[in-house]
Amino acid sequence: MQQAPPDRNTSEEERFQDDYYSYLESPENTPRYKPTVCFLNDAFPESFSLLDLGCGNAALCKYLPERCDYLGIDHSELAIQRCLKLFPQRKFITADLSVKLPQMVEKTQKFDAIVLAGLLFHSTDKNT
Ligand SMILES: C[S@@+](CC[C@H](N)C(=O)[O-])C[C@H]1O[C@@H](n2cnc3c(N)ncnc32)[C@H](O)[C@@H]1O
Repeated sequence: MQQAPPDRNTSEEERFQDDYYSYLESPENTPRYKPTVCFLNDAFPESFSLLDLGCGNAALCKYLPERCDYLGIDHSELAIQRCLKLFPQRKFITADLSVKLPQMVEKTQKFDAIVLAGLLFHSTDKNT
């Protein structure tokens, strides 16, 4: 009998519970975010909007300029709670992207840039 795929939402919650993703905030992980931030700074010398899909603990925010109008989305409530504590001046939404993205498309919500870091390999539903 074929085994059901793991419940990604639950397993991510467990990871955040165990503080697994705190490694993303460590200084050794700076190279993970710096190229993106350099690109954004070059591409948008003025203010710009940025959508961060699967933002996790929003470690990217540490490196973003203030002129960035940031929105982070993650389906882990624990992650978003942590994000709101760390970056109260930024915007975050707890939502599953497979539900939220089509809604945003329907509303024709637009952003100057979208970041998708370490997310695709989390998807067990290939259509999504
Ligand atoms: C490896 S972490 C990367 C976090 C962040 N992008 C970074 O690079 O620092 C992947 C994140 O994607 C989120 N995620 C995975 N599938 C998702 C989905 N369908 N909807 C929303 N968030 C999702 C997980 O909860 C997790 O926080």
